[in-house]
Amino acid sequence: MLGDDRLRSPALFEKIVTPEEAAALIEDGMNVGVGGFTPSGYPKKTTMALAKAIKNGKKCRINIWSGASVGPEIEEALAAVDGVKSRMPYYAASNKSMRAGINGGKIDYIDLHLSQFAQQVDYGFYGDVDVAIVEAAAINADGSIVLGPGVGNIPMFVKHAKKVIVEVNTTIPLSMEGMHDIYICEKPPRRTEIPIYHVGDRIGSPYLECGLDRITCIVESDIVDHVRNLNAPDANSIKIAEYLVEFLEHEQKHGRLPQEMLPIQSGVGSIANAVLMGLSKSKYENLKMYSEILQDAVFSLIKMGKVSQASGCAFTPSPNVWKTYNEDPDLYRKSIVLRPLDISNNPEVIRRLGVISINTPLEFDIYGQANSTHVMGSQMMNGIGGSGDYMRNGYLTIFCTPSTAKGGSISSIVPMVTHADHTEHDTMVFITEQGLADIRGLSPVKRAKLIIENCAHPDYKAQLWEYLREAQRKNAHMPVDLAHAFDMQAHYEKYGTMKI
Ligand code: COA
Repeated sequence: MLGDDRLRSPALFEKIVTPEEAAALIEDGMNVGVGGFTPSGYPKKTTMALAKAIKNGKKCRINIWSGASVGPEIEEALAAVDGVKSRMPYYAASNKSMRAGINGGKIDYIDLHLSQFAQQVDYGFYGDVDVAIVEAAAINADGSIVLGPGVGNIPMFVKHAKKVIVEVNTTIPLSMEGMHDIYICEKPPRRTEIPIYHVGDRIGSPYLECGLDRITCIVESDIVDHVRNLNAPDANSIKIAEYLVEFLEHEQKHGRLPQEMLPIQSGVGSIANAVLMGLSKSKYENLKMYSEILQDAVFSLIKMGKVSQASGCAFTPSPNVWKTYNEDPDLYRKSIVLRPLDISNNPEVIRRLGVISINTPLEFDIYGQANSTHVMGSQMMNGIGGSGDYMRNGYLTIFCTPSTAKGGSISSIVPMVTHADHTEHDTMVFITEQGLADIRGLSPVKRAKLIIENCAHPDYKAQLWEYLREAQRKNAHMPVDLAHAFDMQAHYEKYGTMKI
């Protein structure tokens, strides 16, 4: 039941409506901007009521705009009733109906660099924001909003929204108040520098400014974020983490990394989480993170004193994370800053701070190009997310992945990626459980030799060497044999294994 701790003005109580009444504000073809980032801090009640109305005959297909993928109460519920016309700027494959709609050509999906979307909305590239739906911990008397664990792009959606629906979720701890730092950039040509010089700098407001009169209605919610548990670190991730720590120490020894270390960014998924957790066994203390999503490992590392400051646009609210958070909310409120997505992923800030970017691709090729998104070049897995923001602009860019996927039937190292999200110009270091290839300063053939030798799985080395030999028959700067480049992938599509 909502009390005055969460609705901090009597006027706010007059705006309470049922989820069905809120859903009735959403009409066919509307652009709907939702809060949150990954299954973290996203609204749930209104979209579930909308899905029910569509199931009962309401004609309504909407364009869903968000920070990143959100939970099944939005993606799955609406895609399952054919309520989604288009989706931007990211989705995740864990939402099966959305995945089927996108890969089946029924839902238009536009995969974008996440740092860019807020600015594009600000300029109206994609039309008006008809409705913004925010999930909040509380609303202040002046109408400013206390957000939960996910910020994403909601500040920009609220800035432009014709209607604002706020779902106040009574399960979000009020102790989170003060963790956010909401800052909206001016548009060029009036834009100035973003004044973040250290990971923990606060440059905006702890609240999302909205104004009482702009809040159309309020819906009460008590649904917790739908978060899948990440896999526990396996032998491959532990090995990858060991190579990573060894590499960072080596860079420090040679004066290419300062002793106090540079801020770290870590990507999404089980592998990224496991690799980050590997830092717990390193000598490092007081590390800083300038990242996008702060997954479970970050909370463990803060608790252990390994990480002292972490900036992101959301944290993963898994049961484990809430348990750790509730043991000492003050510690996490002081150590964590949650920012809008275009600030957490901003190229200017990533460059200035000298971020060490560590991400996971689906596959990479012998010349150092990486595919983060399209399985076999055509089926969307997850979007590119912030990986492009960080890999283009990081001080050191590192890709980590096991050398094989699908139980060994796929090699993660291929002659030529079937889809290039990250070109050779953006990548520096590749790590698999087999070893590490530092391709900085190497010409293409030298890169290929090092990657095959150090990173490929023994089951696939002979095939990759054979390919390189064949390709090198032509004199070329980057020898490619187009007819043979996709043999391994084609073989997988036909026989379910890349082993030829
Ligand atoms: N070919 C085909 N499928 C592959 C593959 C490959 N080379 N490598 C991995 N996969 C599949 C896995 O089999 C699994 O599929 P399933 O869910 O159908 O079983 C899926 O990809 C996820 O792989 P998993 O091993 O569980 O790894 P993960 O949870 O660490 O996720 C990515 C890996 C690549 C999907 C994830 O890191 C990602 O989405 N990256 C792109 C976005 C990004 O980098 N964001 C960073 C933001 S800052």
